[in-house]
Amino acid sequence: MSPDQKTASDRNAAAPEPKRNMGRPVPRYDARLKVTGEARYPADEPLNNVAHGVLVTSDIARGRLTRLDLSEAQAIPGVIEILTHENADGLHRLEFGNGTATSISPLTDTRIWHDGQIVALVLADSFEAAREAAYRVKAEYEAEKPSAGFGAPGTETVLAKDAVKSHKEDPAAGDLEAALRSSPVTIDVEYSTPTQHHNPIELFSTTCFWTGDRLTVYEPSQFVYGFRENVAKQLGIDPEKVRVVSRFIGGAFGSKGPMTPRTGIVALASRRIGRPVRCVVSRAQCFTTATYRAETRHHIRMGATPDGKITGFGHEGWEITSRPDSYVVAGTDTTARLYGYGAVWTRVNMVKADRNTPGYMRSPPETPYVFALESAMDELAVALKMDPVELRRINDTMTEPIGGKPYTSRSLMECYDAAAEAFGWSKRDPAVGAMRDGDWLIGWGCATAVYPTNMGAGAARVRLTADGTARVQTAAHEIGTGAYTVIGQMAAERLGVPVEAVVVELGDTELPPAPVAGGSNTTATVCSTVLTACDAIRGKLFHAAASAKDGPFAGRDPATLDLRDGGVTAGGDAGGPTEKLADVFGRMGTGAIEEYAEWMPEGVPPDSLRKLYNGSSTLKGGSKGDKMMYAFGAEFVEVRINARTREIRVPRIVGTFAAGRIMNTRTARSQLMGGMIWGISSALHEKTEIDRRAARYVNKNISEYLVPVNADIEQLEVILVPEEDKAVNPAGVKGLGELGNVGTAAAIAAAVYHATGKRIRDLPIRIDDLISA
Ligand code: MOS
Repeated sequence: MSPDQKTASDRNAAAPEPKRNMGRPVPRYDARLKVTGEARYPADEPLNNVAHGVLVTSDIARGRLTRLDLSEAQAIPGVIEILTHENADGLHRLEFGNGTATSISPLTDTRIWHDGQIVALVLADSFEAAREAAYRVKAEYEAEKPSAGFGAPGTETVLAKDAVKSHKEDPAAGDLEAALRSSPVTIDVEYSTPTQHHNPIELFSTTCFWTGDRLTVYEPSQFVYGFRENVAKQLGIDPEKVRVVSRFIGGAFGSKGPMTPRTGIVALASRRIGRPVRCVVSRAQCFTTATYRAETRHHIRMGATPDGKITGFGHEGWEITSRPDSYVVAGTDTTARLYGYGAVWTRVNMVKADRNTPGYMRSPPETPYVFALESAMDELAVALKMDPVELRRINDTMTEPIGGKPYTSRSLMECYDAAAEAFGWSKRDPAVGAMRDGDWLIGWGCATAVYPTNMGAGAARVRLTADGTARVQTAAHEIGTGAYTVIGQMAAERLGVPVEAVVVELGDTELPPAPVAGGSNTTATVCSTVLTACDAIRGKLFHAAASAKDGPFAGRDPATLDLRDGGVTAGGDAGGPTEKLADVFGRMGTGAIEEYAEWMPEGVPPDSLRKLYNGSSTLKGGSKGDKMMYAFGAEFVEVRINARTREIRVPRIVGTFAAGRIMNTRTARSQLMGGMIWGISSALHEKTEIDRRAARYVNKNISEYLVPVNADIEQLEVILVPEEDKAVNPAGVKGLGELGNVGTAAAIAAAVYHATGKRIRDLPIRIDDLISA
């Protein structure tokens, strides 16, 4: 064991000591609720007389439903009703893309677009009866030959820029072909990444009931306002009559961001039978009734001078999507700008197949596209006989090469240096296979982590009471990241009360709207909004304190006052006068001050707030504005590959990350750690297998869909690198929930090459890849 390994476990404490511009590792607001099982996830909401719904899904991928025989199913005792396309009256079709996962609208017609499409919903008094009946629904189809994915006959390839509003242009600069022709060192390589499914522990579920013409939906949702709008559309009712509640979410990763048509189907069923309905989707059905990460392909070309200056970068990507919907991630927006390349040329293609519509999955664009770029960077470093860290340093830039826009802050090389130091990189022998330890071939590799700083318009209500307690209300979402905790910390800090005195309410359309919990924007957006509300409260208090002739602050400039330790203070640390909140409120003759604040990041359209109330959120940040806003990191891994069996282990991984202000070192570390574990998973474990003849997923369960377990993760170290960035937003926060899993797979692929000399360009990397010649 090297000295680095010995100290890693000490540094791995769950509550890292805050450094500059970092908040305390306050324990999670909801920790006790969660470990005692008291936290109510949407399907846990107790309801009287609830009927249970079970979905019936198609077992063909393309064609038409010709007949449904329900007689056997209806004969099961306890069955109440079976909803099909023949009786789902009043179900409207959904459009794709405004907070909806797909335009494929089951039960509105007989067309089958993909394997596992919903064809019926069985309702019964018990879950068991509903499931039994669902098995006995007999569906007949007129099947057509499906196209499963890349390379299958019958797919259609479309340029993303022609079909997708969010990707109107493929980033490019200069003349790539000329740059490559004149570059002494070039590489020209292809990569691929597989289909992946989110598999949150909490299954997808919809629980709902009607009170007259008013609908309440309990569903794990990353965007309750969006769900409200879209379920109302699907049912043709007024969104004002719908309430969506999602107080806790047991993992989402993007899969619970856009609404799927299941929600309206369950709501319609509940209205039809006049009873509350709970529908929890089976694990297998989760693979086809929600979204997934589509498989991608990449063609990368790079040129460089012998001293390592990159002269040109070309990145063409292909992504699978469904027949009717143009879902695309287009990670070239990030890869085209990551380094100071000379010329850049990019293009993104969509390949339409007979599959369900893919969707967001943790760092949707960066995970596959940065895998390709960072793998190519390692290949280029090898071609140049250069240290891969130095190659990044030489091409580091504060100005992106497409539009010449400056980064607001960029601590990439600080992260590399901190990670290299902690990992012991200087001891690396760069020769392939040179670091063998007995039967184990050792490889060391590294890669960049990068994620855009996104923000959206938001609203929040904050109340400060005379007794020094506070309440924060906003319809943001706790998807496991620590949202309750960091939002409470921000209010406590600005109001000068202990964090324990702050109640935080989230996840309910009865609260002021907040954006989708996507693009890692929640902490930046909501903390900025809550800060705005708190500052309004401070303003009122300070004005009252300064204008009270008999008070200790009479005649002072309100701008010099502060809220601390449950009171108003003047003179900062110098120890001026103080007054308890109760006294200030008492003199004001008021019991509480409540402020409703709206906040918008710079550069979003002026109607963003208005649209937010109507369930649509526009995120800004990353490369979208006048300035580049990104969080960065560096990940270093050691792999050990058994020389005889080719078993692949990752005994050690170090990740360093800089993301502006860190609100809470505990929750930040937890997110980054989870991300790195997912990165290892992407590199070595995860892949949804497709039967190419039938276009059906084969391993629709979590025994055959591999994810890492504790034994797969040995030493994992997260190091938070201090960074200050006042330009990104008032809170100074860059989101980091989707930062940790970017780059990991490339670092592992680089380490596998270093150990074995085999460059694996198709994920996941498996033992088989290292056995074959
Ligand atoms: Mo995240 S994939 O943006 O929910």
